[in-house]
Amino acid sequence: MVVTDALIEASKKYYNAQCLRQFAGYCYIGMPACGGHAMDWTSLHMQRIPASGTLRMFDLAVKLEAQGRKIYHFEVGQPDFPTPPNIIDAAVEALRNGFTRYVSARGIPPLLEAIADRYHERGIDIDPTQNIIVTPGAKMALFMGFLAVIDIGDDVGIISPSWPSYRIMIRNAGASPVDIPTSPDYGFDEEAVKQTITPDTRCIVINSPNNPTGGVLTKSDMKALYDLACDHDFVIFSDEIYEHLVYDGFKQTSMLEIDPNMERTLVINGFSKAYSMTGWRLGYAIGNSETVNNMVRIQQNTTSCATSFVQVAGVEALRGDQSSIEVMRKEYERRRTLMKNMFCSMESVTCVEPKGAFYMFPDFGAYGMRSTELAEKILQDTGIVSTPGVVFGSAYDSHLRFTYAASAETIEEGLAILGDYLSGLKRSVPTGAGRLPQTPVS
Ligand SMILES: Cc1ncc(COP(=O)(O)O)c(C=O)c1O
Repeated sequence: MVVTDALIEASKKYYNAQCLRQFAGYCYIGMPACGGHAMDWTSLHMQRIPASGTLRMFDLAVKLEAQGRKIYHFEVGQPDFPTPPNIIDAAVEALRNGFTRYVSARGIPPLLEAIADRYHERGIDIDPTQNIIVTPGAKMALFMGFLAVIDIGDDVGIISPSWPSYRIMIRNAGASPVDIPTSPDYGFDEEAVKQTITPDTRCIVINSPNNPTGGVLTKSDMKALYDLACDHDFVIFSDEIYEHLVYDGFKQTSMLEIDPNMERTLVINGFSKAYSMTGWRLGYAIGNSETVNNMVRIQQNTTSCATSFVQVAGVEALRGDQSSIEVMRKEYERRRTLMKNMFCSMESVTCVEPKGAFYMFPDFGAYGMRSTELAEKILQDTGIVSTPGVVFGSAYDSHLRFTYAASAETIEEGLAILGDYLSGLKRSVPTGAGRLPQTPVS
């Protein structure tokens, strides 16, 4: 292999110095002989994948639950509604009809057409045979998208606070995630984007409505980002998984309305949130034929395809009765208002009203604790489980994420307990919240 300066520079970004030394050692000395010393089975890639920040909270909560403690779950980002029965029936019927074999890596034609029709209704022209790939969940669409688009040494901007899986997938693909802050009310900050762009910026990830803040991007925000993408030659990954969960009459624009020819856009979407189908694992990506065909090549050689009979259920989800989306949306809106009112009545908590998704991301900086320490203390003392803000970006270490995919009763009871608890908890500053200094992201 010819080791060029560019490759060495890219490698330095990819692996830390210690890893490089280890790598060089292997090159010069060769692999240790069998029977020498124990083999280290962990790949260098794993250095770039931190342990899940939420898993620790979950493990602690499970332990307390096993001890008989009452636990209030606000950490799990999944709808508490059952999958609508017509969707379940379609899957059962497909199974009974023997639709249980491998299918095309791109997706079954009826589902590709149903997805394309959804966008046609919004005036977006998509070729179902070229521009769509169906995947086992939006997560796999994102991961394959990153593998298809970014290289070792690239920078990938993420409008943050943001869902932690983006960072991990980007690192897995050999690139460096770079957080781009939002405005204090979790809106788009064009200046912050401009300041973050470098010649290495290959891609910027947006997620509107956002996990964990519930912030949204407007059509003009998206247009501004698209103009920057054209000027600075980068790609936009638009994760639109929460597009239906918007409140106060807001209408979420798809990035495809801004970039209908998909010159710089890959849209990621799925069935988990809108149709309460988290465990079914069904998602998709829409993009130009080159990118989508590259993703199809990856899928052919990894997962093969999204599960065949689940795709039939996906057709029913898109073509069948849509009323469940509105029923769920309305209920989330009601819970959102309930949660917001309860947090806003807590004196030392700073909160911004979410405009979409089903999360709130209040700031507890007044208590002067790092988010992991605070989340664990609250859990131990009250049984309330939240997600530490630091997992959504190192600058958010004074925040906690709470989901209102929890029932209204859980919100009412749990947050009343939290409010009482916080009023007795020592504050490091008298009122209001202040951000703690940043901690490095692992
Ligand atoms: C922003 C965001 N994108 C994607 C996903 C994953 O969706 P799926 O279940 O389709 O993989 C989640 C799940 O929590 C999410 O919050």
